[in-house]
Amino acid sequence: MKKFLLFVFLAVFCTKMFAINPPDEGMWLPMFIKDYNYSDMKKLGLKLTPEQMYDINHSSLKDAIVQLGNGFCTGEVISKDGLMLTNHHCGYSFIVEHSTVENDYLKNGFWAMKKSEELPNEGLTVNFLVRMEDVTKAVLDSVLPGTSEVKRDKQINAAISKLKKANSDNGKYTVVIKPFYEGNEYYMFIYITYKDIRLVGAPPSGIGKFGGETDNWIWPRHTGDFCLFRIYTAPDGSPATYSPDNIPLQPKHYLPINLQGIKKGDYAMVWGYPGTTDRFMTSYEVDNTIKIDNPAFIEACDVILPVIREAMKKSDAIKLGYADHFASFANSWKNKQGETASLKRLKVAEKKAIQEKILASWIQQDSTRIAKYGNVLSEIETACKNVNSNAVKSFWYANIALVTSKTLILPFKLKGVKPNKKEKKYSEEKINTLLTNYDKLMEGTDPATEEKVILATVELFKKLPTEYQPEIFAYINKEYKGDLKLFASDIINKSLYGRRANFEKFLEKPSLKVYENDPLVRYFVAIFQCIIKEENAINETKNSLELARRNYIAALKEMSADKPLYPDANSTMRVTYGQVLDYYPVDGMHYEYFTTHEGILEKEIPGDFEFDVPVKLKELITNKDFGRYGKDDVLSVCFISNNDITGGNSGSPVINANGELIGCAFDGNWEALSSNIIFNEKLQRCICVDARYILFIIDKFAGAGYLLDEMTIIQ
Ligand code: ARG
Repeated sequence: MKKFLLFVFLAVFCTKMFAINPPDEGMWLPMFIKDYNYSDMKKLGLKLTPEQMYDINHSSLKDAIVQLGNGFCTGEVISKDGLMLTNHHCGYSFIVEHSTVENDYLKNGFWAMKKSEELPNEGLTVNFLVRMEDVTKAVLDSVLPGTSEVKRDKQINAAISKLKKANSDNGKYTVVIKPFYEGNEYYMFIYITYKDIRLVGAPPSGIGKFGGETDNWIWPRHTGDFCLFRIYTAPDGSPATYSPDNIPLQPKHYLPINLQGIKKGDYAMVWGYPGTTDRFMTSYEVDNTIKIDNPAFIEACDVILPVIREAMKKSDAIKLGYADHFASFANSWKNKQGETASLKRLKVAEKKAIQEKILASWIQQDSTRIAKYGNVLSEIETACKNVNSNAVKSFWYANIALVTSKTLILPFKLKGVKPNKKEKKYSEEKINTLLTNYDKLMEGTDPATEEKVILATVELFKKLPTEYQPEIFAYINKEYKGDLKLFASDIINKSLYGRRANFEKFLEKPSLKVYENDPLVRYFVAIFQCIIKEENAINETKNSLELARRNYIAALKEMSADKPLYPDANSTMRVTYGQVLDYYPVDGMHYEYFTTHEGILEKEIPGDFEFDVPVKLKELITNKDFGRYGKDDVLSVCFISNNDITGGNSGSPVINANGELIGCAFDGNWEALSSNIIFNEKLQRCICVDARYILFIIDKFAGAGYLLDEMTIIQ
């Protein structure tokens, strides 16, 4: 699952589950598996030693796992020459970036047939974890009991800066220090960051995104959600930005690929970088998520995204132009709907409330506990009750409005357009640069769609009580006699940003007055101010609760001192282990643990936006031409396991008992979309693309079988 790159703020005042965790629950820290998890892992069938998995002095499994960027996805090294496997949806924005209508890699796929054809990707980096360390003492040492939160933050930041400096080896390493258990503990992560990452192969969307939004978050699945990159280094093996002289990374470790197939109950573990979970959420926050946060997000998407979806069906250019941000919003949109449904169906608030009662009575048993933790639950409850649903709506509407229109966001993305008071003329160079950037940002933008999106946003804001609206309606009333359609039309047709000709004209004769009176600029500024206002209000509530949340977790840790509690995900390396496993989504229904080629043709809708099957794939399937990747005329496509993953884990390796790759994780399942808040043993599954299907696509479909020569394949 890809980590949502939204301005996530959702009021999260975390606490922890304290039922005994089933072995498959939990995103565990690699440095602790030897102590906490190893015996469970062995019982499930693991054959490796702890040192073969995590060792800071010798190469180990962890050396094959990488974090993409700051954690939007995970990747794994699968060859001696630095080939990296991840999901198609993780490489998506880069694939889009390289695509044009004439050369549409999103539609047709891309395969480098030799290294010189691999495509560099500006801005893409990967982190290898060198080691991690508990630095709680060093970070919290200077904080005395009773210190104010503001002072505490300052002291912590100073300690963190010091540690970062001391451990970066003059910039050789990227040092990240993060709070765990809501700031009760701190851990340091030392990474080595590589910066020349090239696209090697991506299947067409008819494979990599087969099933589109309809199948997204759903099992059974038939998606080949993978793509390949290669990590490059300077000739001496050190990290370097792109250069034709760079050479493929010689990794410390890479994962062998097992093609022998999987069966129910097989050991399966996932290593990767889960982004955020809220497993310590209280019943009060679950209530707010169901009633306030998710509906606000969903309502905004409900009116805006269908406009974009319909436009994307009209032409390849529009499809390409909107593909990336549509995919990411549509992904979150569906996720929030599934989350709400699961939270209700699985009665999560009720379950949390029972646990809170247990904690409350534990606290009441002892006067020291009462002194330390007596108020935590009531403080959280009060804060949750005080959350203003209109403020939350306003915040989400504003965020979504700004980023769903490619035009409305231009004042933010194109720097230097606004003239200062005295500026009357721009240099030719500045004009050219701004025009080039404008063209790039507006590529594939459809004015009619933009107009509809803008109109949808103004209509949405109009539904809010006046004090929560962006301050634009007085202007619309005055200038447009309240006609929202006319306002939206002017934003696209008359504003300086709406059309290229208008933009060019403005750059030729820049004027601050014209800029400030521009309808788009006015609307943008009004929305932006709205975000800041509501964000400040939300942060105030959050800050006032920080201490309560920290103490809540401290209480939980103290109460369950005899068993380890795994910390919430926070974009640091984690391990989850369990089995390949089927499930029963609802009473009386059974879901098999794997899917096959047959389902691809069953789902096929020729020419469809989401279910079109590439001709070559259909041919291979019809002829049962599966090569060594099929067995008894059956080609496995996807499978599921009970591994505990979340956004950020997308692209993570699914590894068998011998440390070999059996699949690549890419999604969570509908029935358990409450999984960020609670783990449901019976329902939660991790959706993976089978390693055999991946190699089949590379070799038989794409004809890029030469890539297999650098891998270690266990047949
Ligand atoms: N649900 C997946 C995740 O969050 C993304 C799947 C991408 N595919 C799609 N059809 N949108 O990581």
